[in-house]
Amino acid sequence: MLPSIGVIALFVSTVLGQAYSTNSTNGYVLKKGPLDTPWTEKVGTNPWPEYPRPQMARSDWKNLNGVWQYRNATGGAAELDNPPFRQDLENPVLVPFCLESALSGVMGNWTIHSWYRTTFDVPSSWTDRVLLNFGAVDYEATVFVNEQQVAHNVGGYWSFNTDITDHLNKNSTNELVVFVFDPTNLAGNNIPLGKQKLIPEHIFYTPCSGIWQTVWLESAPAASIDKLDISAGADGKVDVTVHTTSNATGTADFIIHEPNSDRIKVQTKVPVNQAHSFVVESPELWSPDSPTLYNITVKMGSDTVQSYTGFRTISKGVVNGVQRPLLNGEFVFMFGTLDQGYWPDGLHSPPSLEAMVYDLKALKEVGYNMLRKHIKVEPALFYQAADQLGLMLIQDMPALATSWVYLDDTPKKCPPVSLTPSLDPDTVQEEFNRQLEVLVNQLKSYPSIVTWVIYNEGWGQPWEGYDGVHNTSIDAILTDLVRKIDPTRLIDSVTGWHDHGAGDFHDNHHYSSPQCGTPWYSLDSSPYNPETDNRIAIQGEFGGIGQNISEEHAWKVENSINHVNNTYELDATQEIWNVRAHIIFQELKFQIQEYACSGAVWTQTTDVEGEVNGMLTYDRRVNRMDKEQWKADIQALYDTAAKRGSSNSTMKLPAREEVVV
Ligand SMILES: *[C@@H]1O[C@H](CO)[C@@H](O)[C@H](O)[C@H]1NC(C)=O
Ligand SMILES: *[C@@H]1O[C@H](CO)[C@@H](O)[C@H](O)[C@H]1NC(C)=O
Ligand SMILES: *[C@@H]1O[C@H](CO)[C@@H](O)[C@H](O)[C@H]1NC(C)=O
Ligand SMILES: *[C@@H]1O[C@H](CO)[C@@H](O)[C@H](O)[C@H]1NC(C)=O
Ligand SMILES: *[C@@H]1O[C@H](CO)[C@@H](O)[C@H](O)[C@H]1NC(C)=O
Ligand SMILES: *[C@@H]1O[C@H](CO)[C@@H](O)[C@H](O)[C@H]1NC(C)=O
Ligand SMILES: *[C@@H]1O[C@H](CO)[C@@H](O)[C@H](O)[C@H]1NC(C)=O
Ligand SMILES: *[C@@H]1O[C@H](CO)[C@@H](O)[C@H](O)[C@H]1NC(C)=O
Ligand SMILES: *[C@@H]1O[C@H](CO)[C@@H](O)[C@H](O)[C@H]1NC(C)=O
Ligand SMILES: *[C@@H]1O[C@H](CO)[C@@H](O)[C@H](O)[C@H]1NC(C)=O
Repeated sequence: MLPSIGVIALFVSTVLGQAYSTNSTNGYVLKKGPLDTPWTEKVGTNPWPEYPRPQMARSDWKNLNGVWQYRNATGGAAELDNPPFRQDLENPVLVPFCLESALSGVMGNWTIHSWYRTTFDVPSSWTDRVLLNFGAVDYEATVFVNEQQVAHNVGGYWSFNTDITDHLNKNSTNELVVFVFDPTNLAGNNIPLGKQKLIPEHIFYTPCSGIWQTVWLESAPAASIDKLDISAGADGKVDVTVHTTSNATGTADFIIHEPNSDRIKVQTKVPVNQAHSFVVESPELWSPDSPTLYNITVKMGSDTVQSYTGFRTISKGVVNGVQRPLLNGEFVFMFGTLDQGYWPDGLHSPPSLEAMVYDLKALKEVGYNMLRKHIKVEPALFYQAADQLGLMLIQDMPALATSWVYLDDTPKKCPPVSLTPSLDPDTVQEEFNRQLEVLVNQLKSYPSIVTWVIYNEGWGQPWEGYDGVHNTSIDAILTDLVRKIDPTRLIDSVTGWHDHGAGDFHDNHHYSSPQCGTPWYSLDSSPYNPETDNRIAIQGEFGGIGQNISEEHAWKVENSINHVNNTYELDATQEIWNVRAHIIFQELKFQIQEYACSGAVWTQTTDVEGEVNGMLTYDRRVNRMDKEQWKADIQALYDTAAKRGSSNSTMKLPAREEVVV
């Protein structure tokens, strides 16, 4: 049964002159969603209080999360001509939770056009410029402060900010109004959206619309640091660009502290607004086993920001005859999960930092050293947590839509689309490419990210003959684009399906059994030939075994429950699920031992809506793993890979009697 919007909580409209005096909760009520988590009730009305931008932290900041006002802009885009300034909007909404989520207090659907409104004061101690920051708004945001447009941003996953100083009422309350357009997969649009669908089904989930990451103010001098690009290698070389708001020349002081200490390891001056590098003697390296981070302070004039980095190098090389991914010059078998980052209570927004980190710790606990962030981008604090805990990340670009919904009398699905004839394919592609660049530029300073993924399973990829669009060169073109922005990481151009030979990986998807670097393969893949393919062989997805645990932990939406059986495998009990996992791990181990398998991604971290194949249930209340068994099985993968990496074994088809499973 689909959740109903419920009774709209109206609050007393104040007269125009006093319209700014909204009270702090405005009648916000947490909605009862199809499933909650242990953190749902703890969220309260001051969610996500943490400083949201750990790689460029300033001391003067103010969090604007909390209860705002919301109105469904039923008049569509035309309402932008007449924004609801200085008037109360009817519904409370808890920012930063997607409008479709229970935590937002709205739990709506078809939130295509939306108005948000709140008021804020600027701390009187702030004497510098005031910047307004958004962690992410899905999908297109137009921002007004005191009735003047101050920002416009396109793309549901990216942070943006703007200097609002000149628009502020210095000694009184200010009004902040945001208009959001989020078509998701409404016919006539094709935008990067990952797993979101207006009509969720099977492997596609409830969409996320609106503000879904922290909104905040900070104080900074007029000439200030705008962005820090920092990358540090295992050889101690630090590459840094200090971007500034003004077109300054000059220098910034760049201080690297000793790990876990205030002591200064290196203090140097770097010219701003240009690439600069210097060398740090014998740094402690970052790795999953030892995720050492170095705090950094950057000062320019009266501006001071805190940051951090980790020293590590990602590369590839032939180790005993096989192309391998190398971390700090050594072959490290990358074993991770497919990590969707969806939450039953907050959808795209985890209910809290503690909840978000809980998932990562559950992975570390059994020995995963990696996760694949699947066609979604997380808040900055997620990447910091991966840096701190020691989890390598394969970061996907959010995919374009794979099908459309028509809004006639009733929503109606239509067949899959990629680049569709009714949209200009070049326009769709150019916007995808632009946002791909934003992805890499915004995330490239996190040491935990080791690989970028451009296309997942052909979704939005203009492959041969699909929807009449033929473009087999796009994979290579986009690989070059990413490589130009970030030459320090590997690129998985195409994970699963339409491989045209670009990038650093031969990446197969196969359920449940892996086919990792093997000479056997199935539909939409190709055998891996170590003689001719100079790319690394990995298994971008496998596993996916499910167990339909119980209604208590299920996403209680009828359509979702009815499609639980629409999957590769369901195991009758948790015990059998663990037996099956053990058997599948043996297969992977065999492929590591005998073939060219260098990494693998188990589907998946948690159940999501109608998918019941997580190591954790969607509500995170049940961990299905027999942890001792999983630890031993995962360690065996690393041990097997280490043997291949240190002996001169040859690639051969084993004789039948040698096959030990
Ligand atoms: C979502 O929209 C569909 C189709 O219009 C409708 O049947 C359903 O009741 C809506 N759900 C909610 C939560 O409003
Ligand atoms: C805030 O508004 C709600 C809804 O109108 C009301 O129930 C509550 O008492 C108000 N709180 C304060 C502190 O005024
Ligand atoms: C918003 O308005 C649209 C168009 O009238 C409607 O389909 C949708 O259900 C509404 N959503 C919410 C959350 O009110
Ligand atoms: C704001 O208030 C401060 C002291 O409270 C005063 O010095 C200043 O002149 C005021 N500024 C404006 C623009 O009213
Ligand atoms: C910034 O500096 C460059 C090079 O000196 C110059 O071409 C450009 O016009 C300057 N831009 C601004 C906004 O001052
Ligand atoms: C390093 O920076 C982080 C984030 O700013 C801070 O929490 C931590 O205390 C710092 N460590 C030391 C030793 O100063
Ligand atoms: C493929 O896409 C690229 C980039 O958009 C474009 O330059 C190229 O012309 C396209 N090739 C074909 C055959 O359409
Ligand atoms: C899965 O479990 C739900 C209860 O949560 C039940 O209604 C449904 O029939 C089950 N489906 C299958 C395929 O076992
Ligand atoms: C899956 O379950 C649904 C309802 O639980 C049922 O109608 C459908 O026939 C089942 N499909 C298969 C392939 O078993
Ligand atoms: C592997 O073989 C090469 C060439 O024969 C030899 O130099 C190297 O020492 C061998 N490595 C190991 C670990 O046995």
